[in-house]
Order: sequence, then structure tokens, then C-alpha cells
Amino acid sequence: MTASSAKTGRVAGRAAAAAVLCLALGAGLGPARAADAAAGKALFDRTCTNCHSTQIGINKVGPSLFDVVGRPVASVQGYDYSPKLREMAKRWKVWDPAHLDTYLTNPRQVLHGVRMYFAVPDATDRANLISYLGTLK
Ligand code: HEC
Repeated sequence: MTASSAKTGRVAGRAAAAAVLCLALGAGLGPARAADAAAGKALFDRTCTNCHSTQIGINKVGPSLFDVVGRPVASVQGYDYSPKLREMAKRWKVWDPAHLDTYLTNPRQVLHGVRMYFAVPDATDRANLISYLGTLK
């Protein structure tokens, strides 16, 4: 019993150390790696599509993301944005890759009061997604 729980403890400790290492590597290398739009599309299709269309003029729970990179923040006609995102639009102006990266990391933490709950904590995932969003023209 003692021996086996000690072993479990060691394994868990190693796993935790590995996770920390991965986080450190991910944070260090993520932005430097070439973004992969195909991987970004796969992630988009799995997650973002539930709430966002890529077609112009089609709003779902969230606004259409057609041509979102370089588009003014909170600017889709007919979409009822939260007051918070409308407020941010005055500061951020357009969705450039840096603002998308900040927003997607954790929308509700970055801009308390926005309506989007979905977060993309992994820097490489975000870079891939933003690369894919850049193709929606
Ligand atoms: C659970 C539903 C949901 C999911 C999943 C979701 N979003 Fe959203 N998204 C929203 C909502 C709602 C808004 C509007 C937020 C507001 O008005 O505060 C929004 C807003 C946005 C905006 C701002 C658009 C604009 O016109 O200013 C971007 C960019 C965005 N989402 C990207 C994404 C991406 C990329 C994903 C996938 C990683 C994603 N969203 C997943 C619901 C979602």
C-alpha cells in the first residue's frame, strides 16, 4: 500500500513536471512556430462553428466571422453585441492578429462582461486559428 501510493505519487509528480515543461515550451515556442491554417480550420470546425458562421451576413449565437481579420470590432450589421464589446471597439478599433490573440485567450477574463464564453488557452492553437481566420475573405 505504502509502496504503491509512493509510486503513484512519483508518477503523478513526473506528470505534473512534464505538464509544466510543456506549458513552458508552448509559451516559449508557440508564437515563433509557423501558424498552420489547416489545423486552425479543423479547430474552428470543431468549436467555433457552433456559434459562428464564416458566411457573410449569417449570424448565429455569435456574429459572422467572414473577413474578421482587419474588420472593425463589433461591426457586423444586425448583430446585438454586448455593451462591453461595443465599448472595447473604441479602444481596439480593428481585429488585428494581436487583439484576436488577446481576446481568444480568455474572452471573459480579458474583457469582463463580454458574452463569449469560449476560450483558446493554447498559443499555438490561437496562432493556427488566426491564420485560418485570415483566409475568410
Ligand atoms: C458558445 C458560443 C461561442 C463559441 C463556441 C465561440 N464564440 Fe466567438 N462569440 C460568441 C459571442 C456570443 C460573441 C459576441 C460577444 C459579445 O457581444 O460580447 C462572439 C464574438 C466573437 C468575436 C468578435 C466578433 C466581432 O464582430 O467583433 C470573435 C473574433 C470571435 N467571437 C471568435 C471566435 C472564435 C475564433 C471561436 C472558436 C475558437 C469562437 N469565437 C467561439 C460566441 C461564441
